[in-house]
Amino acid sequence: MTHVPARQQLPPGLASLADHEQQARQHLDDNAWAYFSGGAADEISLRSNRSAWDALPLWPRVLRPLAGGHTRVELLGRTLAHPILLAPVAFQRLAHADGEVAMAYAAAALGAGVVLSTQASMPLEAIAQAVLPDPGRGPLWFQVYLQPDRGFTRALVQRAEAAGYEALVLTVDAPTSGARDRERRAGFRLPPGTAPVNLAGMQAPPAPALGADQSAMFDGLLHHAPTWDDVAWLQSITRLPVLLKGVLHPADARQAVAAGVAGVIVSNHGGRTLDTAPATATALPRVVQAVGGAVPVLVDGGIRRGTDVLKAMALGASAVLVGRPAVWGLANAGATGVAHVLRMLRDELEIAMALTGCATLADATPALLAADSPD
Ligand code: FNR
Ligand code: LAC
Repeated sequence: MTHVPARQQLPPGLASLADHEQQARQHLDDNAWAYFSGGAADEISLRSNRSAWDALPLWPRVLRPLAGGHTRVELLGRTLAHPILLAPVAFQRLAHADGEVAMAYAAAALGAGVVLSTQASMPLEAIAQAVLPDPGRGPLWFQVYLQPDRGFTRALVQRAEAAGYEALVLTVDAPTSGARDRERRAGFRLPPGTAPVNLAGMQAPPAPALGADQSAMFDGLLHHAPTWDDVAWLQSITRLPVLLKGVLHPADARQAVAAGVAGVIVSNHGGRTLDTAPATATALPRVVQAVGGAVPVLVDGGIRRGTDVLKAMALGASAVLVGRPAVWGLANAGATGVAHVLRMLRDELEIAMALTGCATLADATPALLAADSPD
């Protein structure tokens, strides 16, 4: 077993998600830091996710009645206390010995949804057991990476169904990893004690023999890469709603709706796959327009402030996901740290709503972002 200290107490003075990031840098070794904080290549998408939210001004409205306001939203037939979910992030035991279970406890306590990664470092049943008994919890979803062995993928989906997961999130933007320079410089490797335990026992299918003019990428690795046919296949083997994560192009969003998905998550994988892909704040309104209200549109990437959440809602998102900030909280103090991150983000959202004249998130419309939009 690797020794990851199981810190449980927050140091005083952490006032923002950025403070959590700085603090977490002190607790994570170079290996884990490169994995969690890095993006692909020149990290242009990683940075632009942040700068795109920052570049949107909020045009406050004054003197509106705010009494009785709240952050509740409707999502896939449920009422949520607020629109913040935890994005799927692999290998959370790299950050803290309590890993995904601590994340899940914190999310449930704060009414936040959880999306568990296929590459989680703890058994998917343990996370479900932590979350499901809490009546104030948010949704519990399982993120699917289609495995080359579709039989194994089917068994994994059946395990998630049996454990009580309520939707599947099929990630479609990572048929291969991006060019992760930071990880390569750090010589990233999974330390003993951290592994994709839910994939244990999977047999990799034999690699096809490559001819002289064939590519190890396209004819080898990508031989089993998912396609639109696999979206239909996944829907056919599950009774759970299927959302697609990693959609940026409006044409793909339209195709997703035509394929009957239950929702679309606008994401560039936190800038970790295709570098120079557009910022998610830039793609979001185009996807919202393409989807035309047929299904909910969620977004992640660079959400670090309550004002970012409000801007996403104003652009038509039904909910947002946060990835790295929850990992910083986890590294800093386990479940307590994650709860603190979620609590601050939700408090900031309430402050942003109050100061823009939004009693509810239904009041967050594009007019908040452009003075010449009609109200
Ligand atoms: C991820 N992300 C991710 N996505 C996914 O569908 N399955 C996964 O296993 C992972 N793993 C993962 C690991 C790490 C370390 C990071 C940072 C991200 C992407 C994640 O779900 C989400 O899209 C981004 O993290 C959102 O951006 P922010 O909030 O981190 O800026
Ligand atoms: C990542 C994979 C696990 O971003 O999605 O590291």
